[in-house]
Amino acid sequence: MHEGVYREFEETIAAGERIEPRDAMPPEYRATLIRQIAQHAHSEIIGMQPEANWITRAPSLRRKAILIAKVQDEAGHGLYLYGAAETLGARRDELLDRLHAGRQKYSSIFNYPTLTWADVGAIGWLVDGAAIVNQVPLCRCSYGPYARAMTRICKEESFHQRQGYELLLALSHGTEEQHEMAQDAVNRWWWPSLMMFGPPDGESPRTERSMAWKIKRHTNDELRQRFVDIVVPQAASLGLTLPDPLLRWNEERGHHDFGPIDWAEFHAVLRGEGPCNAQRLGQRRRAHEEGAWVREAAAAYAARHAARPAG
Ligand code: 3HC
Repeated sequence: MHEGVYREFEETIAAGERIEPRDAMPPEYRATLIRQIAQHAHSEIIGMQPEANWITRAPSLRRKAILIAKVQDEAGHGLYLYGAAETLGARRDELLDRLHAGRQKYSSIFNYPTLTWADVGAIGWLVDGAAIVNQVPLCRCSYGPYARAMTRICKEESFHQRQGYELLLALSHGTEEQHEMAQDAVNRWWWPSLMMFGPPDGESPRTERSMAWKIKRHTNDELRQRFVDIVVPQAASLGLTLPDPLLRWNEERGHHDFGPIDWAEFHAVLRGEGPCNAQRLGQRRRAHEEGAWVREAAAAYAARHAARPAG
């Protein structure tokens, strides 16, 4: 591809160094980064909805404050990532238009409902835990602005994962009813969390090229396996079980074997047929419309300031 024209780009990638916004890069590299970073940003913004659902119903002021801080962090993660996409020449308003029109994706995981308070714990422990496993390697991504955004985001994700684990620990060791609520939430969030890592490697059209460009540093299945191996002992510490009868340590492999994932469910959710797809996008479009006046006011203020003579 592009013999000679992008020699410096190829040499930089091969040397494991960073590509920066002003560097020459193949259009396909730029396009796949805009795709992945935009969908990552969309996931952060949509991901605010499931947990925000419980802010007004948090069981204590401490839990409410933690949840507000976490949801606010997700908004900030979205803004960092839209900013990273803009360094590639993408326009934020166009990326949001694509999301609202269903022409760009967000993570499947956010199309599931948060039915009880324990879901807030399961999301923190499992979903943010999966996000950390997926995002830490992205801190070594070949594109500088994305890698740097990930470094900042991963620091905040570790708070998200810890607060979720702590919330579940309190419930799991609480009353029998609280333990059951925690176990029910883990049962509902386990398999969708494994789906977050993407389709199996053999059905991932993007992985080979993404690995060659050192955007992805590990394959979907490698990171999924890493997540399972991390979470199994944590579940034991929580006193909760994972809803997979085939889950067991395989000494020979040095990893946990786990049961088959329902890829039909995964693809149905990606087609928009998940439990909350319509609700999540409808809420997002409404928020965008209701926020139009803020964008117009900010643009008018910026234009008036730009027109003001210096001095
Ligand atoms: N949900 C929605 N779409 C998914 C998906 C998922 N869980 N997994 C894969 N896909 C899509 C891909 O986007 C791709 O579609 P596209 O070509 O239209 O973009 C298609 O399915 C094929 O998947 P591939 O594995 O071939 O595609 P990628 O190489 O892009 O891998 C990915 C998918 C692993 C999600 C990768 O894009 C990635 O690492 N993205 C960055 C991390 C991210 O977006 N995480 C989302 C969660 S954010 C989050 O959890 C926030 C936290 O605070 C809770």
